[in-house]
Amino acid sequence: MFSKYLSIAFLFLLNFVAASAGRGLIVPKAVVVSAHPLASQVGVEILQKGGNAIDAAVAVQFALAVVYPSAGNLGGGGFLVFRKMDGKAFTLDFREKSPAAATKNMFLDDDGEPRAELSLFGRLAAGVPGTVEGMVAAHKRFGKLKFTDLLQPAVELARRGFPISARQANELNNERNNFIEYNSGSCAFLSMKAWKAGDTLYQPDLAATLERIRDNGRAGFYEGPTAAMIVNEMQRGGGIITAEDLRNYNVVWRVPAVGTYKQYKIVSMPPPSSGGVALLQLLAMAETKPLAQWRHNSVETVHFLAEAERRVYADRAEYLGDPDFVNVPIKGLLDKKYIAQRLSTISPDSATPSDEIVAGLPPNIRTKAHESEETTHFSIIDADRNAVAVTTTLNGSYGAKTVVAGAGFLLNNEMDDFSAKPGTPNAYGLIGGAANSIAPNKRMLSSMTPTIIEKEGKLFMVLGTPGGSTIITSVLQTILNVTEFGMTMQEAVAAPRFHNQWQPDRIYAEIGTFNRDVRTSLEAKGHEITERTPIGRVDAALVLPDGTLEAGADTRGDDAAGGY
Ligand code: GLY
Repeated sequence: MFSKYLSIAFLFLLNFVAASAGRGLIVPKAVVVSAHPLASQVGVEILQKGGNAIDAAVAVQFALAVVYPSAGNLGGGGFLVFRKMDGKAFTLDFREKSPAAATKNMFLDDDGEPRAELSLFGRLAAGVPGTVEGMVAAHKRFGKLKFTDLLQPAVELARRGFPISARQANELNNERNNFIEYNSGSCAFLSMKAWKAGDTLYQPDLAATLERIRDNGRAGFYEGPTAAMIVNEMQRGGGIITAEDLRNYNVVWRVPAVGTYKQYKIVSMPPPSSGGVALLQLLAMAETKPLAQWRHNSVETVHFLAEAERRVYADRAEYLGDPDFVNVPIKGLLDKKYIAQRLSTISPDSATPSDEIVAGLPPNIRTKAHESEETTHFSIIDADRNAVAVTTTLNGSYGAKTVVAGAGFLLNNEMDDFSAKPGTPNAYGLIGGAANSIAPNKRMLSSMTPTIIEKEGKLFMVLGTPGGSTIITSVLQTILNVTEFGMTMQEAVAAPRFHNQWQPDRIYAEIGTFNRDVRTSLEAKGHEITERTPIGRVDAALVLPDGTLEAGADTRGDDAAGGY
């Protein structure tokens, strides 16, 4: 199997290169798009063996934990959106939870100021992981193949190793000092010599953990030797996750966030992700404007979307949090009159300074955040047209940088997604509110936006992306690129992106997104524009009018599509 995966990696790259001119990979039956060619291949093989989209998703998630360790994970969490072939939709929340010993001010110093290093690095930064329970629950409810068969490819990739890409070699070299600082011993990511492309990454401890999960399901992670290793890791210094936290961890099937955009039905993730609600607010605003006539990334389009975004992110900071702890006014935020009232404050001529914008007052109210950009997303459609969108994360790249000794997987640093000090901008400039303050056993607010779209009652698009706070606006732009601007799935994923998140008050844009005239006109309206590194890595799939499937694999990473 090992040599097969090696040769397939190259085949996939060829496939991808051939597919990247205008159209993505086109396949008649089933497609898998993920951040790594080997993970996509694992998913395709599961589908070809008779597995459904959920089986493939479980296998891809575990494979990504091996071949994409910066964000694919066992020690993190995420969200899954599933649309069955009969049109019924389900969303699974396997977001991490804070440990029972977590306290509101745990990341503040004696002067009450946030100590970002504690919420970003090392054991205290970790929430109780949700990924394994999430995959077990998804498989139990909807899977067809045996769970053991879905784990086996990941076990083999971990035990026999796989060749790292140039990008991964670079990342591992850059993280070297962090791995030394935040681990008490050696780990698979530390090499005597600098890593280079094509080096083999062996992860025997991770393989053994995957075998325990393969053989014992949930108990292979939340109980027994793996749980003991996590607790021991905590006791090496600073960590507070206990055996009881692990035993008590639970996933939640939530009511999907559903809305419409023109003739499309949008199904996305509800709180504790802000993604679905914010996306639906943005689409409701976008629907009122002639974007196709204005054209892609024109002054009118960018100005309007940036203004809509700053209002939506102001609402996000005020109202979004874990629905098991706070009342999130989803209906009010999506209320048509409320959307119209928010729209009425947008001037076509000038940008509204963010300091002049506060959250609106949606109807029926009874009663802020930052995310790192290293997350990962995959999209799957099977031959029966079941569809899955999964976004999963350790939060930062390589999470807390701490590997659970003996178990071979990284701890997340998801505690940093809470508002350590409500009302104060975090290290990334996003404002957090009381709704997202730390409490025991609470889920931290997310921006992850795994999304499935129907057109006239039929499956149309599956998409999502990493990118922290930029996730929502990347998903929005990708949808509009197809529905308004006539792009293929691949073009929509590759198109340059911009982002406004209310605070800081500026439009972030990938280098070269705006030509000089557009930039000058936007600045004349009062927008400050900051160019930056790539935004997001959207992996998406589209059902074409003839029923074939087009993949969009983001060229910003090593992402790849496979299918048949
Ligand atoms: N940690 C990134 C997110 O949940 O949005």
